[in-house]
Amino acid sequence: MSQPPVPFLDLQAQHRQIRDEVFAAWEDICHSCRFAQGPPTQVFEREFAAYCGTQHCVTCNSGTSALHLALRVLDIGPGDEVITVPMTFIATVWAISYVGARPVFVDIDPARRTLDPARLEAAITPRTKAIMPVHLYGMPADMAPIGEIAARHNLSVIEDAAQAHGARYRGRRAGQWSRVACFSFYPGKNLGAYGEGGALTTDDEALASRARRLREHGQSRRYYHEELGYNYRMDSLQAAVLSAKLKRLDAWNAARQAHARRYDTWLAGLPVTRPAFFADTESVWHLYVIECDRRDEVREKLAAAGIETGLHYPVPVHLQQAYAHLGYQAGDFPHSEALARRCLSLPMFAEMTEAQQQRVVAALAEALK
Ligand SMILES: Cc1ncc(COP(=O)(O)O)c(C=O)c1O
Repeated sequence: MSQPPVPFLDLQAQHRQIRDEVFAAWEDICHSCRFAQGPPTQVFEREFAAYCGTQHCVTCNSGTSALHLALRVLDIGPGDEVITVPMTFIATVWAISYVGARPVFVDIDPARRTLDPARLEAAITPRTKAIMPVHLYGMPADMAPIGEIAARHNLSVIEDAAQAHGARYRGRRAGQWSRVACFSFYPGKNLGAYGEGGALTTDDEALASRARRLREHGQSRRYYHEELGYNYRMDSLQAAVLSAKLKRLDAWNAARQAHARRYDTWLAGLPVTRPAFFADTESVWHLYVIECDRRDEVREKLAAAGIETGLHYPVPVHLQQAYAHLGYQAGDFPHSEALARRCLSLPMFAEMTEAQQQRVVAALAEALK
């Protein structure tokens, strides 16, 4: 009898743990009919700010919106440059374009797979306004040297923490290393909604209140619009799901960390590059990404063996058609390009069993032969 596939991610297993709590909260919300940014949204904002160790959390309707709001509240716009990495989900870079600023890329450090501080200073110009490191795959970027360089040049730092809820670097959580940090609650994230959602966190009261105004049509009083705004509100149903999940997030992240350790042990000896561990950093392993030769062939063999995998991401942003106008070429960011060519994301979710992990490793060993 053939075995069921090993899924890349099993959201149903997570749903089963919280369904009674979520449905009870949803019943209350439906009863109150306060769907748009109702009381559960404010409750979640308080909870998530406390979780991240920041003064404020402003929820919105996606991580992309959070990044857009972050750049708006810092008054970044046409003529400005924002430094980020090409190896990210494209939304990081969209946000820079949305405000009319120019994205400037810096390659990743190949071990950490996040913005390489050693290359940062060379990319700073008189037009640079902000640095946007991405905590890729759940691994915080090397924030101490990035912060030092930013301070020296009087630049803001915005963390793209869309993949790193709860991750720590030198004891402090993602969100505590910048003026504004942005999170995504897309369903597959470590903390995921049952639809779309996002948030920014900050310690700056003025930035938080401006973000609150911008996400609601630029108004602080109903129908009095002070500046160009958006409809970026989070709905109450999503906030209730996020509150239910937040209580379990540390346990789920710990399970992911145990899976990552196990993969690391079990994959030793195979001809793959395993993700690195760093003593001062706790990744939350949003993704467990190995690198290997003949990646597409290996991936097809795994699929045939019933192992679902992902590619994060097959084309770095500087080589995307949408960004051809920036004038970057293949070869400009060799570490990002090598990771894009060789990356393979193995199944990773809190509820994954040891038996499932064993099957992944056995199928991978076979596929690499
Ligand atoms: C690194 C990164 N930045 C930004 C985003 C955008 O978040 P969302 O999909 O919630 O708009 C994502 C999510 O996919 C992401 O992974």
